[in-house]
Amino acid sequence: MDERAIGVFDSGVGGLTVLRALREAMPRESFVYLGDTARLPYGTKGPSTVRRYAEQAAAHLVARDVKMIVIACNTASAVAVEHLRERLDPVPVVGVIEPGARALCAATTTKRVAVLATPGTVSGGAYEQAIARIDPATRVISIACALFVSLAEEGWVRGPVTEAAVEAYLRPLLSSAEGTPEIDALVLGCTHFPVLRGAVEEFLGPNVTVVDSAVTTAQVVSSQLASLGLNTADFRGQVRFLATDEPVRFAQVGRFFIGQPLSAADVERIDL
Ligand code: DGL
Repeated sequence: MDERAIGVFDSGVGGLTVLRALREAMPRESFVYLGDTARLPYGTKGPSTVRRYAEQAAAHLVARDVKMIVIACNTASAVAVEHLRERLDPVPVVGVIEPGARALCAATTTKRVAVLATPGTVSGGAYEQAIARIDPATRVISIACALFVSLAEEGWVRGPVTEAAVEAYLRPLLSSAEGTPEIDALVLGCTHFPVLRGAVEEFLGPNVTVVDSAVTTAQVVSSQLASLGLNTADFRGQVRFLATDEPVRFAQVGRFFIGQPLSAADVERIDL
């Protein structure tokens, strides 16, 4: 039994969608969540910059004696998961790309799928590679949706601006002849995107299954904890929130992603 917390980080508040799934799956575990809000977005930055940021965020969490690191950011997972595993060994590191790819492959029957992600995640091809390892026959269309991050942070999950952005990004998924989707499953490959799920589902209609990696990542974390003997026996876990920019904004935007009240007093401001 190991009472230490699990460290979770993202470029900002998007990873709170993953934290929410982690807490639902493992209510006895404690978590330290770090949002690198001062340097958001990661999704439009180059791989070496994101890798350096991820290294600093993970090192901060390891210094707080966490027992595992969860990279709750697709962009950072895409460029840094292997790197962090090597550097932080023996602390286990779980990213969100593999679980997301697995959820997507489980959801498709036609083997024609789409990935919505940040430009950084799309340009590295991490989802295509992960999907090819699971099922090489699956055909993937990847779309970089940088604006979705700002819409999600602004809380604009519905309305004309969001609908226009959804249409502009997703139109290529519709067949030109009938206007029906050419895919049957899509992964929200950015932890900011689950709050836009309703708008995406509405545009694509009922024949496309929309998945995100939060729940499958939580399953991976839970089974790794069990296999490594790292579970806690605590009755109810605690959560600490850290942010590299103002706690007030983290709390205002974050409560929407985690789906619970969050006040600035709950958030510790740190520097990396
Ligand atoms: N939440 C990050 C991800 O999953 C994207 C946000 C950003 O661009 O920093 O990729």
